[in-house]
Amino acid sequence: MTYSRITGTGSYLPERILTNAEMETIVDTTDQWIRERTGITQRHIAADDEFTCDLAEHAARNAMEAAGKTKVDIDLIIVATTTPDRIFPSTACLLQQKLDIHGCTAFDVQAVCTGFVYALGIADNFIKAGSAKCALVIGAETLSRILDWTDRTTCVLFGDGAGAVIVEASEEPGILSSHLHADGSYEHLLNVPYGVSNGLDKLKAGEAHITMKGNEVFKMAVNTLGRIVDETLAANNMEKSDIDWLVPHQANIRIINATAKKLRMNSDHVVMTVDKQGNTSAASVPLALDTAVRDGRIKKGETVLLEAFGGGFTWGSVLLKM
Ligand code: ACO
Repeated sequence: MTYSRITGTGSYLPERILTNAEMETIVDTTDQWIRERTGITQRHIAADDEFTCDLAEHAARNAMEAAGKTKVDIDLIIVATTTPDRIFPSTACLLQQKLDIHGCTAFDVQAVCTGFVYALGIADNFIKAGSAKCALVIGAETLSRILDWTDRTTCVLFGDGAGAVIVEASEEPGILSSHLHADGSYEHLLNVPYGVSNGLDKLKAGEAHITMKGNEVFKMAVNTLGRIVDETLAANNMEKSDIDWLVPHQANIRIINATAKKLRMNSDHVVMTVDKQGNTSAASVPLALDTAVRDGRIKKGETVLLEAFGGGFTWGSVLLKM
């Protein structure tokens, strides 16, 4: 049987750091409120001339180097993003051009904060079906571009960044299962209310911003992520104790702690980057994964649970052996 395995990870954060202290000068907030309610102390913000595809390129090159792959090896590119450079071509096609790769399948996935988990699940299916052998899967965002910088309930939460993985066909088990879900009936709780087809005038006027009923999203996220942990373990006949590492979407330290508690996992087996990066939406899971692979915490052969929840609502998980 052919499996798909992650053989390299990479990430990139823009140089500019925006601290909570600086945030206090932008909106009516405090470092203490942000830290206590979210765990966030700072976030990275892309430069004016830096776009989602630029962030994706850095992360992609890091992952390719880590996996020992060059441009001729890549036969599938999937970019998960909510903040594409352009309406079209896709960010995946723009990235393909930057990497000087020609002819392979390349497309974007839009599942907001669950985007990378969706993209990884899709890549796994391409590889298992024999349609690809070496996929470049990326989550990249410039969320700062769709924030209302006068709305303290949202602008303190998000940041920019990119994370990437190389996924290869392998005889050794890698991705064990993926579980992808959505329920569009909750769209009113978390959205950007304007777009190209509906509200182009608002988009052009720079009024297309993230709006969120944070408290209701919080409760849904905690419940839903708890359920997806059960679903994933049951599908693999595994116990909670079989999971070595939890790599969750980095939205809020309190949501992460609630999921870790459900798994009865000690916090030193939960990868946490939200403090330094904020919520980078589709980039958050691969950024966290790369952090823990590069600092030596996550080792080959260990069992890792990736999970995410985001706008849509969308939610999902990937269970894998590194
Ligand atoms: N600074 C100071 N006070 C603030 C701030 C701020 N930045 N933001 C809100 N407040 C105030 C509110 O106005 C409110 O004041 P009031 O009691 O006088 O009305 C009070 O703080 C409490 O507000 P809540 O919204 O109830 O605060 P809560 O504890 O729920 O924390 C938060 C808010 C951090 C947004 C939390 O609800 C959360 O993390 N939600 C989930 C976010 C998430 O997971 N999103 C999914 C992924 S994102 C994506 O898909 C794009």
